[in-house]
Amino acid sequence: MDKYVINGGHPLFGEVTVSGAKNAAVAILPAAVLVKAPVRIENIPDISDVRHISDMLQYMGASVRLVNKTTLEIDTTHIKNIQPPYDMVRKLRASYYFIGALLGRFGEAHVAMPGGCDFGTRPIDQHIKGFEALSADISIGEGGIVDATCKYGRLKGASVYLDVVSVGATMNVMLAGVLAEGVTVIDNAAREPHIVDLANFLNACGADIRGAGTETIKIKGVDSLHGCTYSIIPDQIEAGTYMALAAATGGRIEVKNLIPKHMESISAKLVEMGVSVTELDDSIIVEKGPARLEKINLKTMPYPGFPTDMQPQFGVLMCLADGASKLTEGVYDNRFKYMDELRRMGANVSVDGRIALIEGVEAFKAAPVSACDLRAGAALVMAALATNGTCEIDNIKYIERGYENFVGKLNALGADIKKITVPDGPVLEKAN
Ligand code: EPZ
Repeated sequence: MDKYVINGGHPLFGEVTVSGAKNAAVAILPAAVLVKAPVRIENIPDISDVRHISDMLQYMGASVRLVNKTTLEIDTTHIKNIQPPYDMVRKLRASYYFIGALLGRFGEAHVAMPGGCDFGTRPIDQHIKGFEALSADISIGEGGIVDATCKYGRLKGASVYLDVVSVGATMNVMLAGVLAEGVTVIDNAAREPHIVDLANFLNACGADIRGAGTETIKIKGVDSLHGCTYSIIPDQIEAGTYMALAAATGGRIEVKNLIPKHMESISAKLVEMGVSVTELDDSIIVEKGPARLEKINLKTMPYPGFPTDMQPQFGVLMCLADGASKLTEGVYDNRFKYMDELRRMGANVSVDGRIALIEGVEAFKAAPVSACDLRAGAALVMAALATNGTCEIDNIKYIERGYENFVGKLNALGADIKKITVPDGPVLEKAN
């Protein structure tokens, strides 16, 4: 098993460059299925989620050429196998974008129900509602395979009201609508930056999508798409994680290659905590002096609200703040599992459903902890870097799904973190 070993307790200084947005890349790569021509996609993050999507594309018969570490050339013209294998699909939630893309291209898709980080129930009922509105017939077959077919061969545009503001459902219905006959309107759409990025990629290939980034998106179906070259936006959450890291450890970090507009809610909450935040054209400097962080109240919401994917990182900051803070998770039912790990480091937190009441402590105590999901794992790394002493973090596979060269970027900021591989010990039978 791989682990991080972290010697923390000292401020970090320097610059870090943000990679391409994971949650844009894992939608834009499947979107290539809609294009019967080569597409060149740049600024792709070098992370395992992207490699899994790329493996599925190749399994289905697409050609995927690595131009360089962050650029892929994908040609799905000769794709033939429209059922990516179960064991590949289960590796990440974003596999479900293949349903919308395959339905849009072939009028048919057979993709297993997705996996993904465990924050309680994560249904796909709104995705299915959208596909059915566009004349697809959906059934959940043997082994949780989503079987989607369209009796007309080509989907028909329709209006879809999403009962829940869902990033995935918004993107999936957009993918299904691009080649449909007629107009699709998505109401109560999610507005995240990666939704705009997907729409921009598809429009660069000749789609006709308007309103992405607002709550109403209008998609006029076209008969076909053409190839393009497209560069993915910087990752809002990776950028926010490094900004929070400066606040957690002290020191001064310039986070480069970001879009300040996307960072507004994160910058605002850091300022509320007493941290200095300086916004430049495409970077933000975060500087924390010796004074303790100030307590805050925070609620996560769909964009442009405070992003749920930054909740664990700010949970760590609130655990170190002076006084009592209230953290409300506005998107998921159960995204506080990581608090059990922070308690092992001395955090003083009580959790009741979607609300965590946090009494700040002067400092964490070093302890071995375990990552339970991607963003919680990054938050535990932050906590360890802020702690005097040595911490070991296991289950780091979660972290490497979404942070390119995490150890390299942290060490370049003066962190003392290394990745070690420990042989998996004997599986001890659980005590009855
Ligand atoms: C995307 O997940 C992201 N993943 C998540 O990031 C992120 O937390 C989430 O959006 C919210 O921003 C990817 O983009 C791959 P949702 P998604 O559909 O699309 C409920 C990370 O760390 N819902 O916006 O699955 C759902 O249960 C990951 O990068 C339904 O009820 O999220 C949740 O409570 C973690 N029915 C809420 O909506 C549905 O059909 C928001 O989910 C779909 C969702």
